[in-house]
Amino acid sequence: MASEKEELSKQLSNEERNFKKLQKRSISVDMTRGRPGALQLDIAMPMLKMAGELDYVQNGIDARNYGDLAGIPAARELFAQLFEVSADEVIVSDGSSLDIMYTLVQFAMQFGVLGTEPWNKLQQVKFLCPAPGYDRHFAICRAFGIDMLTVPMLDDGPDMDMVEELVRSDDSVKGIWCVPKYSNPTGVVFCDRTVERMASLKPAAKDFRVFWDNAYIMHTLNETDVPLANIFDLARKAGNADMIYSFTSTSKITFAGSGLAAMAASKANIDDILSKLAIRKINSNKVNQVMHVAYLRDKQNISLIMQRHAMLLRPKFQLFERRMSEAFGDCADVKWSRPGGGYFISLDVEGCAKRIVELCAQAGIKITPAGSTFPYGFDDKDSNLRIAPSVPTLEEMDFALDVLIEAIKIALLEKQIAKMDV
Ligand SMILES: Cc1ncc(COP(=O)(O)O)c(C=O)c1O
Repeated sequence: MASEKEELSKQLSNEERNFKKLQKRSISVDMTRGRPGALQLDIAMPMLKMAGELDYVQNGIDARNYGDLAGIPAARELFAQLFEVSADEVIVSDGSSLDIMYTLVQFAMQFGVLGTEPWNKLQQVKFLCPAPGYDRHFAICRAFGIDMLTVPMLDDGPDMDMVEELVRSDDSVKGIWCVPKYSNPTGVVFCDRTVERMASLKPAAKDFRVFWDNAYIMHTLNETDVPLANIFDLARKAGNADMIYSFTSTSKITFAGSGLAAMAASKANIDDILSKLAIRKINSNKVNQVMHVAYLRDKQNISLIMQRHAMLLRPKFQLFERRMSEAFGDCADVKWSRPGGGYFISLDVEGCAKRIVELCAQAGIKITPAGSTFPYGFDDKDSNLRIAPSVPTLEEMDFALDVLIEAIKIALLEKQIAKMDV
């Protein structure tokens, strides 16, 4: 009778043969970044058609001219509805919310926060980084030499016991990155208790800020949205009104990188930020703001637009779920998220992530490098992968899944065989 190892080696040879056949199809599919697909981008094209007919002079403001650094009142109102704050607690800016986040970290480093000492004068600055998390948040920390402390991401948000302890006991902890709704990449929505605990933190550093990146604020994949508690109300109640910076954009509502981005914070923070921004620029693109307000109108209308996005995205997430359940439904070694919104699926195969990415690349499937979802690219379990299904067509996605499934099978068999050799 063949030994277990011989049996596994035979299975591996079979899977490798299947894999070679897939390689021969020489198709390439990119599932690295959460970019909207082309059909999603088409949804907002009517905005450009109406652009020539709009009135760019409103309430005494000529949007074509200089001024109004915080944005036109109607655009501030629109984002105030989304953030659930008042319009004077909002700044509307250009294109990218990531750009605002970077700017705020840069301002804190160079000038301090609401009159505190600039962070770059301090011995050490640390940020808490719930992980798996968003690689571009971690890249901002790296760019400014901010030390990153990894906090485990649980099913209902970051490990709050750990967050509370670190924030309370160490005044060099100046910030935490959070994607509170349909989190990148896990799809987690922070539960009410987690939001309340986050809003009620007792930081040792008075210039500690929660970077509340609500990128997926309206981005449900289903007919109903999952509600998120209002962190601003809770922070005000806890005496922490100035502790929250929140961000969002229309990158995945209208045009990625060419829409509007916005932030919300207390009036004191907004005034502080505007005073610094005013040195750098006179205003953002108000013409684009007029176009966006005319097209998006209000929160309810944005929900309707997002249903059209969901109709395009949902089948791709469903295909992933179906194919993966068929292949690994009864395999405890392969776990994946079932997000209710956002752009990502988080896949965990312990000890195999790097190998899976490598195999996928050999068959033309690009996925985000293993480790990217952790600070310093360091996933000590070599487990987590981020899958972004928005760009490929369903046919491409089906092929990508043929490859991914085969790659997972091969990586798992190789791991099992290697264990036997030890
Ligand atoms: C959590 C999160 N924040 C921010 C961004 C980038 O947003 P923007 O286009 O507004 O810079 C992304 C893009 O994928 C994201 O996933």
